[in-house]
Amino acid sequence: MSTRRRLAAGNWKMNGTGADLAVATALAGRHPAPGCDILLCPPATLLSRMSQALEGSAIATGGQDCHAADSGAHTGDISAPMLRDAGAAYVIVGHSERRADHGESDAAVRAKAEAAMRHGLCAVVCLGETLAQREAGRTLEVIGTQLAGSVPDGADGDSLVVAYEPVWAIGTGKVPTLEQIGEVHDFIRARLEERFGAAAGGAVRLLYGGSVKPGNAAGIFAVSNVDGALVGGASLKAEDFSPIIEALEAAG
Ligand code: 13P
Repeated sequence: MSTRRRLAAGNWKMNGTGADLAVATALAGRHPAPGCDILLCPPATLLSRMSQALEGSAIATGGQDCHAADSGAHTGDISAPMLRDAGAAYVIVGHSERRADHGESDAAVRAKAEAAMRHGLCAVVCLGETLAQREAGRTLEVIGTQLAGSVPDGADGDSLVVAYEPVWAIGTGKVPTLEQIGEVHDFIRARLEERFGAAAGGAVRLLYGGSVKPGNAAGIFAVSNVDGALVGGASLKAEDFSPIIEALEAAG
C-alpha cells in the first residue's frame, strides 16, 4: 500500500471572481477533515482572498503559473515568492494550455518548477500527449521527453507532483481507457524512480487530469499509480468537486 497522501486538485483556469469564493468556503465546510489533500488553484486575482478565506481549513491554494525569475521587468507575470506571499503552497507549471498559448518549452517549464522549489512551493508539473501523438503510437516517448525536460533535479514527494493530462481529454468529455491511464502512470512512476531513487521517486504523487467528473472519478482512482486528479470544469462548483473528493477518500 502506498503511503502517498492522495490529492484532489482543482484548476479554475481563467474562471472566477469574488463571488466564487463561496465555492471554496462551501468545500471547506463540506470537508473539514478530509481523508485526502485538497487544493484549489484560482486565477491570480483571487489567490490572496481565497487563501485568507480558507485559513484554518484543510484546503490549500496554489497558483496556475509562475515566472522563472523572482522579480524584475516582466510585465504581467507573477513570481514564485509572490505566490507564497499570497498564501499559495502549490503552483501548476507547464499546463498544456500554457505550453500551447504561450509557447512554453520543457526547459521553460523546468525553470518555473525550479523557481517554485526554491521558494518552498510544490510544483505541479503537467505532461500530456496530443491526439495525433497518441494515434501515432508516440505517447510514452512524448511523456518521457516532457518528464525528463520539465522536472528539475532534486525533486521529491514534497516538492513535486506530476499531472498526466492528455491534451485531447481536457475539456472534451473524452477520457482515456483505464488501461491507457495506468500504462502512462506506471511509466511515469518507473522513470521517476530511476531518476530520483525508489524513496524520492516513489513519494511523488501522480495526478490524472482531463474530463474528470463525479461519474468517472472512482474508476480512475482505482488505477495503479493514480494518486488523485487535477480537475478543471468540475472543480468550479462545490456540488461537482465534492463527490470527486469523496471518491478519492473512498479509494484510500
Ligand atoms: P477539465 O477537467 O475541464 O477537462 O480540465 C482538465 C485540466 O486541464 C485541469 O488542469
